Amino acid sequence: MQSQIDAYFEAMEVLFSVRDPKVLTALGPSSVRGLLLHRGKQGTPTDMPATHTAHFDWSYPNDQPEMADLYRRAKVGQWNGDDLPWNISVDPLDPTRPLIPEEFLCFEEIEALGIKLDKKERAELGYSMCAWMLSQFLHGEQGALFAAAQVTEAVQFFDGKLYGATQVMDEGRHVEVFNRYLDTKLNKLYQINDNLFVIIDSLMTDGRWDMKFLGMQIMVEGLALGAFSTLYKETKEPLLKEVLKMVIQDEARHVHYGVCALREHFTKHITERERQEREDWSFEIALLMRNRFAAYEVYEEWFEGRMTRAEWRNVVYRSKGMNEFRTVMFSRLVPNLREIGLLSPRIMPRYEEVGLMQYFGGLAADQLTADKLLADLH
Ligand SMILES: [Fe+2]
Ligand SMILES: [Fe+2]
Repeated sequence: MQSQIDAYFEAMEVLFSVRDPKVLTALGPSSVRGLLLHRGKQGTPTDMPATHTAHFDWSYPNDQPEMADLYRRAKVGQWNGDDLPWNISVDPLDPTRPLIPEEFLCFEEIEALGIKLDKKERAELGYSMCAWMLSQFLHGEQGALFAAAQVTEAVQFFDGKLYGATQVMDEGRHVEVFNRYLDTKLNKLYQINDNLFVIIDSLMTDGRWDMKFLGMQIMVEGLALGAFSTLYKETKEPLLKEVLKMVIQDEARHVHYGVCALREHFTKHITERERQEREDWSFEIALLMRNRFAAYEVYEEWFEGRMTRAEWRNVVYRSKGMNEFRTVMFSRLVPNLREIGLLSPRIMPRYEEVGLMQYFGGLAADQLTADKLLADLH
């Protein structure tokens, strides 16, 4: 009961912290559905009405050479999920090949709250955290699959539509491999995190293609790339490492596409007021991603009644693994926002306030190859 009240107040805190009324209008209904009604957790499928416009062009122009090049690379880069080494047997509690290293979580913080976990429990908690992360990847990939399909219909660039078709296939394959790994190797699936639900709900139901694009290709893909990369770097389980390596290579193209399409659109096709709205929206989403992905589903399984949600959030926030995840995520995300024109001097002080300006000078996705991304993680 106390935990439910805490969750309710936390949802209110999220809503009241949004300063811009337009952003609140865009996020509010999704927040109510996700944070208060827990629509993703009712054990039934969720229907989200989509209101975008399918844009046809009967002249088939070659209008975007950079996207045409991405399309060519994406065709060559296709792979078959069946070819991964699925014969590797995975023991989630094997100490010689841990899914995530012990220091990924901060056990001292948990102990400081009077909760002592023995070696076996620590390994089991690591297993829970890893299964939780992979479950969120899977749910995010389902969102990415549908968003990629919607954007393929709605985008005006013809070369972007062809490229988009490859992304739909990529995302389908990501759903396939994460689902297969969770189902056949970890035998565990967590429900969708409420904050992830809010972001997906918000961009699926927004009729504006560029908002879908910004939400999925820049924000959620940035989040995913940060999380995939951290797990890729930290895991000692060889099959998971291979799955993540293949997925990261596809995701690098997806974010590149997002930067390429939105840079063109935001600098040439929208008004300054519209640009500002997108700038504010992405800041709020960045904050949500920074502060709220606290694995509450793991908390409810392990610690509900033994510590408060705020205490758990603190444990997660201070853990080495989550810290690294945030660093990788924002070092990729912030330069991309700069590159598409959503980090103007007007918003910089707010990024400064929350400590994110340190990533401002990094390379954006159009200057990063998949090889470079992977090399950075060694
Ligand atoms: Fe994906
Ligand atoms: Fe993707």
